[in-house]
Order: sequence, then C-alpha cells, then structure tokens
Amino acid sequence: MQDALIQLQTEALAVFLKVKTLDELEAARVEYLGRKGRLAEAMKDLAALDADAKREAGKIANDVKRTIEASFQATEARVVAGAAAERKAQEWLDVSLPGIAPAVGHLHLTTQAIDEISGIFAHIGFVRSRHPEVDWDYYAFESLNMPKEHPARDEWETFFIGDEGEVATGEKGKIVLTPHTSNGQVREIEKGELPIRMINIGKCYRRQASARHLPMFHQFEGLMVDKNVTVTELKGVFDYFVKRYFGPDRATRLRPYHFRFTEPSFELDISCAVCEGTGKIENGKCKLCKGGWLELGGAGMVHPNVLKAGGLNPDEYTGFAFGWGVERTMMMRSGINIDDIRTLYKNDLRFLTQF
Ligand code: DAH
Repeated sequence: MQDALIQLQTEALAVFLKVKTLDELEAARVEYLGRKGRLAEAMKDLAALDADAKREAGKIANDVKRTIEASFQATEARVVAGAAAERKAQEWLDVSLPGIAPAVGHLHLTTQAIDEISGIFAHIGFVRSRHPEVDWDYYAFESLNMPKEHPARDEWETFFIGDEGEVATGEKGKIVLTPHTSNGQVREIEKGELPIRMINIGKCYRRQASARHLPMFHQFEGLMVDKNVTVTELKGVFDYFVKRYFGPDRATRLRPYHFRFTEPSFELDISCAVCEGTGKIENGKCKLCKGGWLELGGAGMVHPNVLKAGGLNPDEYTGFAFGWGVERTMMMRSGINIDDIRTLYKNDLRFLTQF
C-alpha cells in the first residue's frame, strides 16, 4: 500500500513537470486529484486495512496528497505565468508608431469643378440659381424661340417623360428631362428681378451614350440681362472666366455660329495649351486642337423673342447667355486623357482617387 502511494506520487510529480498548457494541467488534475482520480481510488483501499496499518498508511496518503497538491499549484503558477509571458511577447503595442489613417473620401471631380466654376463667377456678381431638371417643353424649347415642330429641336436628343405609353403633358406642354441648362433662361427672366446675373449649373439629359457622350452630364449656363448689355460684356466675362480657370496665358475668340435663342450667336474658343495657339508642334500639326483653338461652348446675345417670353421689352433690355459643358471644360483644363468619357461616372476608385 505504501509503495503504491509513493509510486503514485512519483508518477504524478513527473506528469505535472511535463505539463505545458492549462488544458494539460486540468487533465492532470482530474487524473490524480479529481473526485474519481487515482489518489481518491487509492484512499478507498485504506478502508480494507486494520486500524494500525490504516493509521500508518493514512499518514502517508495525506503526505502524498499534500505533495501532489503542492505540485499542482506550482505547475499552475508556472503555466499561467508562461501563457502571460507568451501573450506579452506576441501582443504588444508600440505607442510611438504613427497611426493607421482611415481612408477619407473626397468630392467627385465634377462636384469639385462645379464648386470652382461657381466660385469664379461669384467674384463678378453671378448668383448661382437652380432650375428644374424635369421641365416643360415650353422652357426647354418653345420659349427659347423654337416653336413646336421646329427642326432645330432635333439637335437636343430629348428624353420625354412617359405616362402609360403616352408622352406626359403638363400645363406648359410635354414633360422632358431638360437637355440643356438653357431652360433656366426664361424661368430666371420671369422672376422679374433685374438686372440678372445668373449662373445655373445642373444636370442635363440626352438620348446618347457613347465613348464621347453621356446620357447624363452637366452644363453651366450664364445669363446677364440689363440695360445696354453688349457683346463687349460677353467677351469680358468669357475672358475673365478663361483666365481664372485655365490660366492667364490663354487667349479667347468668338466665332460666329447659330442658335435659335441668341442673335448674334457664337461658339467660344480658347487657345490650345499644347501648341500655344499656333496649331503646330515641333514635328507637325497639333493633335489636340484644330488650328490652335479648342471649342468651349455656345453663347450669344439673348434673342428678342426670348426676352419677350420672359416678359421683358427687348427695346429696353438686352442680355447675353452662354452654355458650356462642365465635364468638357474640366477635362480641357486638367488634361485628363480618357478614351471613354463614361469613366467619369463608373465609380472606379482607381480613377476617382487620383483627383
Ligand atoms: N444650350 C446650348 C446647348 O446645349 C448651349 C448654348 C448656346 C447655351 C448658346 C446658351 C447660348 O446660353 O447662348 O448646346
């Protein structure tokens, strides 16, 4: 009996010595010290002994129990300390390291351009106004000197709003997604607050989708109406914008053109930055421009019929208007060279984060 107890102790101590993890420790505890463990089993055998032998063996059994328990506690302390040391070695924090900056987004490049453009016009007193993107035919065409069925309308490949298969009609004609920001002209004049210096920036929609055309794009429309407004003011405002937005070296030019809602009408050109307006580069023709000039957009003196539509007397008031594409203007400046304009709105972060 005594030998068996001593052997149990030797064995238990050897096992505890080898324990490395808390799981192993628990298993060893159950094995030797548990309620049904080896020591408990050995204690049961004591009952069969006679009184003297029982006293003798009981004393040894108690010693063995204490020794094994002490070994368990020492092992537990060792394993817990080891686990903590290991965690400390693995998990540490260097508070002097720079932090990990979260990814911060920014405004879309078109929104940035809109902010910048409206800021430039604000300096010369143009007030940003907003007009509907869903509008009546009247403001998109008719009031702009394009009577119903006029062929000039075909140039604006217009989306009409449908009403159960029919084109929806309201109090001022068919309902369209406005194909240009010029729908703001008569709406602004109708307000009757003169003089007018409006900059209307908004979305436009046309039935077109290709590498060069978007079904949704932006325009900025300027309108100035006052007494004695002439082409000189138009040219001055155009120059001011071009020098602020594109840089002081860029020249401007007005080229005769035709729009129904302006008379006279112009296309506005700016000198090409690549060939500095010469149309030539070292070994040949400039590939970016036509003969030194790039077209920015349309403009002209507001047609008398448009002023009349807004309730003004064209003998008393005159004005100029212009309408340019935001995407086109911004790409002309930044030199963004993409072979498909739809890239702007694909939400590909590899592209967008560059701006
Ligand atoms: N609305 C015209 C377009 O979308 C551009 C335009 C031309 C606007 C002449 C004007 C203007 O205000 O005077 O093509």
